[in-house]
Amino acid sequence: MRIHVVDHPLVAHKLTTLRDKRTDSPTFRRLADELVTLLAYEATRDVRTEQVDIETPVTPTTGVKLSYPRPLVVPILRAGLGMLDGMVRLLPTAEVGFLGMIRNEETLEASTYATRMPEDLSGRQVYVLDPMLATGGTLVAAIRELIKRGADDVTAVVLLAAPEGVEVMERELAGTPVTVVTASVDERLNEHGYIVPGLGDAGDRMYGTV
Ligand code: URA
Repeated sequence: MRIHVVDHPLVAHKLTTLRDKRTDSPTFRRLADELVTLLAYEATRDVRTEQVDIETPVTPTTGVKLSYPRPLVVPILRAGLGMLDGMVRLLPTAEVGFLGMIRNEETLEASTYATRMPEDLSGRQVYVLDPMLATGGTLVAAIRELIKRGADDVTAVVLLAAPEGVEVMERELAGTPVTVVTASVDERLNEHGYIVPGLGDAGDRMYGTV
């Protein structure tokens, strides 16, 4: 597993406003969307392309287009949904699958309550979206499911990560073709499984509900 922390002043600026508890839900959603697009730019650095012949108004030339099979984008419900538009904006050919996962707030164990994606992901590049890499339980379970279905290149796009979650992913997904792209690896997890300093509950901050 590889981790890539995107170091860019615009990323840091948007992340700081997301962290601020005074930021309201509409602003949070807009900034999360913009931040995902910046992360998506880095996350898709190795997206597969093919050479094509085109004609400009001046001359024939060659260029590149996103190739087939189409990349698959999988937001993890609920909060990953707030990252979908920002991701597919840069990947117009992508197909979208869904994974509904919830973590038990006492045991912090992840369980799946909904799955909607192709059975066979052989040869597919997959981008999985979850704002918070906290304990790592949800992302490890999601990525195992994608690899079981044949995905051969998985990139997790997360707004924030905790060192504990990164360590779990490195241990549990050792030797698998997985990259994590994030805006920050924060200090630690607290006793409730929240990232510190973090930004609170990403789903609640996006949707204003509990
Ligand atoms: N999930 C969240 O929404 N926030 C955290 O800090 C940890 C997990």
